[in-house]
Amino acid sequence: MTTQPLLAPEVQRYLQRAQRIVALTGAGISAESGIPTFRDAQTGLWARYNPQELASPEALATNPGLVWAWYTWRRGLVKQAAPNPGHLALAEMERRVPQFTLITQNVDGLHQQAGSQNVLELHGNIMRTVCVAHRHPVTQWEPAPEGEAPKCPICGSVLRPDVVLFGENLPTDVFQQALEASRTCDAMLVIGTSGVVYPAAALPGLAKENGALVIEINPQETPLSAEADVCLRGPAGEILPALVRQVWPDQPTTQKL
Ligand code: APR
Repeated sequence: MTTQPLLAPEVQRYLQRAQRIVALTGAGISAESGIPTFRDAQTGLWARYNPQELASPEALATNPGLVWAWYTWRRGLVKQAAPNPGHLALAEMERRVPQFTLITQNVDGLHQQAGSQNVLELHGNIMRTVCVAHRHPVTQWEPAPEGEAPKCPICGSVLRPDVVLFGENLPTDVFQQALEASRTCDAMLVIGTSGVVYPAAALPGLAKENGALVIEINPQETPLSAEADVCLRGPAGEILPALVRQVWPDQPTTQKL
């Protein structure tokens, strides 16, 4: 049985010639690693918690202990998770493309674990801890009483994960790099994101405005589907390895060509 090639020949050739490729990823690429997405009704965190109550500066101010407990639970999920074939395929793609930039909304660090080097974490990283008063980076702290958040050993303010909470600004330098990469790329893969959270969701439109080919990889249609040139409907863990095999069919590399 011959399997239908994933990409039309002209798209395959375009990606083979592309000098600058950007991948924009969301929670969907980590779903197959067992980390719940935010909005998938049956498993998403939205269904079980209201992240607006938990992942917001207001919640941090009024109930830091609850926010700390929720993120400790999520850190536990991340520690149990491993990169899946979708993450690994993007690390392989980076080794094949002259200039590859991975922009992620995810905070789980799985892209770096998979071997991706040039990763822009728009929303921070859940495994890093800082204090609320001065963002002191903290790696060790005294355990807190039940229901309370631990304190910064430097200034005594409460600790929080180094992630962007709803309503907070993205790290400026990281977002500037993401804008530049999106503005100048030949192709952008938009993978596993519902495309409803800005400013990340504006990046595919910016790429398209500047002449990039936009490919969406998602089992479901999203508000970004309309501006994609190609929509590949299915799980990233299957589609990305197939795409890499079709576009770069020779042996996997261990270092940049
Ligand atoms: N492969 C690819 N995509 C998938 C898969 C999969 N195996 N499983 C689910 N998806 C898709 C869903 O169809 C959905 O479109 O992943 C998307 C997940 O969307 P969200 O849960 O909204 O995650 P994301 O887009 O990353 O959310 C953006 O919002 O909650 C904030 O800061 C948080 O970074 C997050 C941001």
